[in-house]
Amino acid sequence: MSQKKLAGVGLGLRREMIDDLLPDIPKQVDFWEVAPENWIPLGGKYQQQLTEFTKQTNFVNHGLSLSIGSSDPLDINFLKDVKAFLDRHSVLYYSEHLSYCSGEGHMYDLMPIPFTKEAVSHVVDRIRQVQDIIERPLVLENVSYYAAPGQEMSELDFTVQVLEKSGCLMLLDVNNIYVNSINHKYDAQEFLRAMPSGKIVYGHIAGHYDEADDLKVDTHGADVIQPVWDLLEQAYEIHGVFPTLLERDFNIPPIETLLLEVEKIRSIQKRVASKHSQIGALA
Ligand SMILES: [Fe+2]
Repeated sequence: MSQKKLAGVGLGLRREMIDDLLPDIPKQVDFWEVAPENWIPLGGKYQQQLTEFTKQTNFVNHGLSLSIGSSDPLDINFLKDVKAFLDRHSVLYYSEHLSYCSGEGHMYDLMPIPFTKEAVSHVVDRIRQVQDIIERPLVLENVSYYAAPGQEMSELDFTVQVLEKSGCLMLLDVNNIYVNSINHKYDAQEFLRAMPSGKIVYGHIAGHYDEADDLKVDTHGADVIQPVWDLLEQAYEIHGVFPTLLERDFNIPPIETLLLEVEKIRSIQKRVASKHSQIGALA
């Protein structure tokens, strides 16, 4: 393939999809995302298939277990394995969650980091350590959360401070902003507008579960709803069009159905890009 570059629309690649997709990788998808934890331990057939896949297409990694906010020491051996995986498959970016999932043992869930000054400097130090080991910038995602223990500052201030002080880049999850804005009663547009445009490498969009009018749960198990599509369009208007990946982890429909949502992302990208090129041409 031609030179690797992150652009367009992406989709998550799951192990059970690879047999069906590999003979004829859908051209509608410009880049694919895998969790390195799910692939590093595999041998033989799966490694060969993944190598075949990554040679032909663009890839990003979206990790699950880095636990950047934890008070436990970083798992250096794991990070060395991640670096080898990124190098081997020419992965364009390694993204993770601005959260933690361990503390004297693994918790198997993404927990919110307390939004405090102390936590900002703790996380910033750890991001720098990670970047030294993987020898590329870490990309961190704004996460959904359901409780905010020990809150000294807003999620917005915490997120911006970590991004600015650490030198890391950002994965902007539009559905997480929507879900958090309802659960924690803030203005999604204001949050979106405050994100640093120059840091955004790519975005996520997903469906969620409506537990109640004032409680949304980020499940990645349903179709994307219209207010989240609208927020994605606003994100492109504010920050410029950025590569965007559809997340779907539960109730997974056939690939043909997923590709309809992939195409919907692309149509929004095209609409905003052409609107701005027209405005540019008129100026
Ligand atoms: Fe996400």
